[in-house]
Amino acid sequence: MLSKSMQDALNKQVLMEAQSSQAYLAMASWADIQPGLKGVTQFFFKHSDEERMHMLKLIHYINDRGGFAVVPALAQPVLTFVSLKSAFEELLNHELAVSSSINDLVDSALKEKDYATHNFLQWYVMEQMEEESLARECNDKLELIGDDKSGLYLFDRDIVSMGGPGK
Ligand code: FEO
Repeated sequence: MLSKSMQDALNKQVLMEAQSSQAYLAMASWADIQPGLKGVTQFFFKHSDEERMHMLKLIHYINDRGGFAVVPALAQPVLTFVSLKSAFEELLNHELAVSSSINDLVDSALKEKDYATHNFLQWYVMEQMEEESLARECNDKLELIGDDKSGLYLFDRDIVSMGGPGK
């Protein structure tokens, strides 16, 4: 059975994953109306779906352990971006914040000696390592590309096969 404090902490993570899904959905919609970003659009839509899956996994876990998963209200995410680079910078910053939140949860689980939750969270720890690494790779590539249009063309083409989150 989850403690009240662990249930509340996990519900905060439900909110964070839902916000992530919403933020990447907005990035997808923005990319969708930019010329020549079909690959990036696909990447953001897929990433949004992955975040929803992260949220659902938490909801099932909370309820399975005798808690009550709260479906949260969501604020409107950022809708437009000055550049593709700035969208990917936001994505990386977002993932770093999620990693930090997961680390805090792991810490709380250990302090409470809630080893089942600690074990459950290990999947998220690994997932965050992958997501951070992928987000950094995208930012590094965009930094190299700068304003080079042929570089951007290749980036958009290649991002579809870069595995994506949760690969
Ligand atoms: Fe589920 Fe990308 O954090």
